[in-house]
Amino acid sequence: MKRLIAEREKARLGGGQKRIDSQHKKGKFTARERVDMLLDEGSFEEFDMFVTHRTTDFDLGNEHYLSDGVITGHGTIDGRTVYLFSQDFTVFGGSLSETNALKICKVMDQALKVGAPLIGINDSGGARIQEGVRSLSGYASIFQRNIMASGVIPQISVIFGPCAGGAVYSPALTDFVLMADKTSYMFVTGPKVVKTVTGENITDEDLGGASVHATKSGVTHFVGANETEGILLIKKLLSYLPQNNLEEPPLAICDDPADRLDDKLNTIIPEKPSTPYDVKDVIHSIADNGEFLEVQRQYARNIVVGFVTFNGISTGVVANQPNYLAGCLDINASRKAARFVRFCDAFNIPIVTLVDVPGFLPGSAQEFDGIITNGAKLIFAYGEATVPKITIILRKAYGGAYCVMSSKQLRGDVNYAWPTAEIAVMGPIGAIEVLYNRSLNAIESPEERAKFVAENAAEYREKFSNPYEAAKYGYIDDIIEPRNTRFRIIRALQTLSTKKDVNPPKKHSTLPL
Ligand code: HXC
Repeated sequence: MKRLIAEREKARLGGGQKRIDSQHKKGKFTARERVDMLLDEGSFEEFDMFVTHRTTDFDLGNEHYLSDGVITGHGTIDGRTVYLFSQDFTVFGGSLSETNALKICKVMDQALKVGAPLIGINDSGGARIQEGVRSLSGYASIFQRNIMASGVIPQISVIFGPCAGGAVYSPALTDFVLMADKTSYMFVTGPKVVKTVTGENITDEDLGGASVHATKSGVTHFVGANETEGILLIKKLLSYLPQNNLEEPPLAICDDPADRLDDKLNTIIPEKPSTPYDVKDVIHSIADNGEFLEVQRQYARNIVVGFVTFNGISTGVVANQPNYLAGCLDINASRKAARFVRFCDAFNIPIVTLVDVPGFLPGSAQEFDGIITNGAKLIFAYGEATVPKITIILRKAYGGAYCVMSSKQLRGDVNYAWPTAEIAVMGPIGAIEVLYNRSLNAIESPEERAKFVAENAAEYREKFSNPYEAAKYGYIDDIIEPRNTRFRIIRALQTLSTKKDVNPPKKHSTLPL
């Protein structure tokens, strides 16, 4: 018994007090402190505390630390089981050894069998250099498990320190990445290699800090101002998710009336069709208690995605954002939304789509970078999804973008439009310029041309830029008063809760990656 207590004490000290102090000085918590902050008090069941590495090269035979640089096990968050690993930077810089990888694989295997989410807290110098290929094989074994678990259990990666080299690919294979601002970074090749190969001088932060991955690469889905905020975000995220793909998401307790109306929505769409507004005002207005957990908030801001509850029902929201690039769909927005839609579909989370999109972003940059293939991803994601899909067209739904945004023809279950909806092949001005090309060329005076366009655009708007044409054909199930939107969505979600839809049997699709 005495030995057990002493050994446990030793294990809890990781790489020793000096290294723990150095970790704290950097504004970081230790691996164990992070586990304590994340899990319900007293719920942690630790595995493999007494594991040590088996290497003798580079004098490592004389240097052993219990747990070998990673804390693993399971516990509960808000009473629900999660499996986790937390890399301990105080032991060999949290580097991944053969035994360390075996520990991680053990919790991954069990999380998959039990059907519980997996959370990986990364803070590591990468492959344990002294172990060579055995460490690399450890990474590959983790990748394989990430892939097998994908779409079966939610996988969340938390980056609370370095995550470099091939090590970045485990987080990249998971569903959500969260980084702590200023104390974490991710890159495939670090600043030193970059300098050698390309001559570019760049810092860790500028190459792979949280801000870079939140705004430029889209690699991270969430950024915590610090580790404490990061952990709160993870708990919030889990509250929207089921334990696995065979379960429904948890039903939240809701004290916000389902039939709450919001008169402000009746006038939220500006008079002038080109005037922007913030679609997040609509989301906050219709969601339970105005709460919205936005995913990839700073990336591809022309589309907004995230989680809300409607009368307690966990729901994914996808919304075009007229406030940014007029809400056009571009490559990044298409990929961002497609990934989110596929996650929701994999985990039985219904999707509400709010549409105000003038079309795909025009230009050679987008064409050269493959807007065709990337736009197709979003069409594919919506068309493949079998969860309940509710679409509300708020204003513009032009051209291909109408089709993409969860249209009736992509198996939208309930498609509503506000009276302000404009559903057409293109906007009125563009349409008149195409339809009356010859007549316009014959008019010399610019004023006369403008007058001609304005007059005909008004006629076009009257005929096509409204929801009634689409409603006439049944492409829109109903035109609803904006202030009733919350209630109509909740009623649709409740009705669709028993929806069954399947795709034809196949090995897998050939999604245009
Ligand atoms: C073994 C390592 C280590 C590693 C750090 N340490 N990285 N030990 N293998 N990969 C040890 C250090 O020797 C040191 O030990 C302790 O961890 C803390 O490291 P410091 O350098 O003192 O810390 P800091 O100044 O904060 O710098 C952190 C760091 C740096 C930026 C991560 O340590 C570093 O550059 N490490 C190497 C990173 C790397 O190149 N890894 C391989 C990437 S390739 P003591 O005893 O002094 O405490 C890769 C391939 C994966 O990972 C492939 C997957 C397919």
